[in-house]
Amino acid sequence: MLRRTVTVTAAVLAVVLGVQAGVQAAPTPGSPGAGDVYYPDYGNGGYDVAHYDIRLRYHPATDRLTGTTTILASATQDLSRFNLDFALATQSVRVNNRAATFTKQGDHELVVTPARTIARGAPLTIVVEYDDIPSTVVAAGFTSWNRTPDGALAVNEPEIAWWWYPSNDHPTDKASFDVSVLVPTGVEAISNGTPTRWAVPAFGGWDRWSWRQDKPQATYLTFLAIGDFDTYQDTSADGSPIVTAYNTRLDAATAAAARTSVERSDEITDWLAGLVGPYPFGARGGVVTGAGDQGFALETQTRPVYDGRSFLRGSNNSLVVHELAHQWFGDSVSVGQWKDIWLNEGFASYAQWLWSEEQGEGSAAELADYVYSTVYPADDPFWQVLPGDPGPTRLFDGAVYDRGALTVHHLRELVGDEDFFAILRAWTDTRRHGDGTTPEFQALAERISGVDLDAFLQEWLYTPGRPDRGVSTLSVP
Ligand code: ARG
Ligand code: ZN
Repeated sequence: MLRRTVTVTAAVLAVVLGVQAGVQAAPTPGSPGAGDVYYPDYGNGGYDVAHYDIRLRYHPATDRLTGTTTILASATQDLSRFNLDFALATQSVRVNNRAATFTKQGDHELVVTPARTIARGAPLTIVVEYDDIPSTVVAAGFTSWNRTPDGALAVNEPEIAWWWYPSNDHPTDKASFDVSVLVPTGVEAISNGTPTRWAVPAFGGWDRWSWRQDKPQATYLTFLAIGDFDTYQDTSADGSPIVTAYNTRLDAATAAAARTSVERSDEITDWLAGLVGPYPFGARGGVVTGAGDQGFALETQTRPVYDGRSFLRGSNNSLVVHELAHQWFGDSVSVGQWKDIWLNEGFASYAQWLWSEEQGEGSAAELADYVYSTVYPADDPFWQVLPGDPGPTRLFDGAVYDRGALTVHHLRELVGDEDFFAILRAWTDTRRHGDGTTPEFQALAERISGVDLDAFLQEWLYTPGRPDRGVSTLSVP
């Protein structure tokens, strides 16, 4: 996402310099990847997206998805060609008012050659039309679009956008979103941000649901939950809309347990804001799927999606705390590299320990001691996975969460409470709506605390085996 003024200045500058110096660099193809060390072909180079406008029509009975996505971007180099990350059958691509040629490369790269080359800094309007049965589309060896008995869920990490809209699919290129979906009347279509059309009749038997996310959002945090949901709308004290939705297939007890937790999202968000700084977004809520539909929860921006299964035994406020803590750690400040995933999961998990302490249950120190000594004994293979470098196939290993949270707790012990919370606030403030890497986090934490964290982070994030550690020195209030 670039600011408009910057774009114009760069464009003017490029033209002036090019003409005056008489050297016009030949336009070159944009890179097919964004430079991620774990997933080299995720995201792309050569352009920067500012906005996605996604218009879809979906029928749960057939799983047929037809759509048009319009992308507003700007070129970051003189561009002869560029890639979009996309797996669905594509009908047409237009770039800046001309039909473009396009080919599929592998199963999730769409290579687009515009009719005219694009100058660096110039605006880029890309229109992609598509039509497919997403649940049948396999890319990178799996399908991520999840068809349910009454609809579909586009909820996953890191790979989900490929199955429903073309994008620059890496968290380092965020954009605003408009998502608008036609579904048969009676079916709900829920997404991120603010509802701008709520089951508005469109034509015989079809309703339109439209959602707007005006804050920068990573592609994987953009979601779609289509199906039969009981929905609730309210307004937070800050004026932002709260939308919660519960799949109607949940049995009464599970639905009640889910509501017990998810209806406290607003309160939990405010509690988190008191700890780490202002809530970065303008909408709130949560979506609960049928039990077992999804298999995990995801911190989809402004509105996490939970699996009903998480509430089968009763309320689960801790899970809501985890997904809402991600709104700061993961959503507003995203990973600069997928390798940095502990920055998401370690902090979201640590927030659960702080919540436990706040509730007068186990303190963070007690939980840290318990996890370190009892849950994972020294010979547990758990200690062989490195939270700072889990590898692309173990992105969500338990070590990323629990050893990540222990790392956060140990940091707190090393720098003291005042500096610890100052570090969290500075991280989420200075990188709001952006991204960051582990070395960048370390530099900030060292600057604020004056403590050299190198040996500590080396041991906790990057060294196999259980690090030495005494019982927590943090006092229980
Ligand atoms: N970030 C999610 C969480 O906070 C986990 C997502 C797991 N993804 C998956 N495909 N299993 O818990
Ligand atoms: Zn998480």
